[in-house]
Amino acid sequence: MIFCWNVVRLKCCKVIYSASIGTFQPYNFTTFQQLQMKILIVCLGNICRSPLAEGIMQHLAKENGLNWQIDSAGTGNWHVGEGPDSRSTRTARNHCIDISGHVCRLFRISDFDEFNVIFVMDKNNLKDILAMARHEEDAKKVKLLLGDKIVPDPYYTNELFEPVFKMIEQGCREIIKSLT
Ligand code: 4NP
Repeated sequence: MIFCWNVVRLKCCKVIYSASIGTFQPYNFTTFQQLQMKILIVCLGNICRSPLAEGIMQHLAKENGLNWQIDSAGTGNWHVGEGPDSRSTRTARNHCIDISGHVCRLFRISDFDEFNVIFVMDKNNLKDILAMARHEEDAKKVKLLLGDKIVPDPYYTNELFEPVFKMIEQGCREIIKSLT
């Protein structure tokens, strides 16, 4: 899986083109690492999966020395202003990740401008976010976090929280590998 939203890597001539900077620069790993990715992660309620994914991605980005901006949002408004689901907080804590400070928010159209890429958990999220895309440029930013697989909704199934954590963690590792 190769991601090239704001960076086109032209390895053959050892330069990179950054749309955000608007110039060609000599390719080296440090330059590439320093280009800031802005990633939004979206699920339905923004209390179970996407806060977990936000915490995991932040944790792994930090571990890899990446200065990335990561946020999460939901397509449904039932829990706006609330903290994460306690089962997600507990699962994350079991893996030494603290997501307790998360505050649920709704996806907004301006997120298409704010973020380079928008990762969604399942096909319903994908449909809902694509329905809000204003043009092709918006739509191109929206991807399933697991590439061609979905992260199932654990809201009604306590036993799903740990497997969901593992799936998201694996997906985030692959995203980081493909971007760095
Ligand atoms: P999430 O899970 O999309 O992973 O945050 C859900 C949270 C709440 C609801 C559904 C799914 N709900 O219907 O309130």
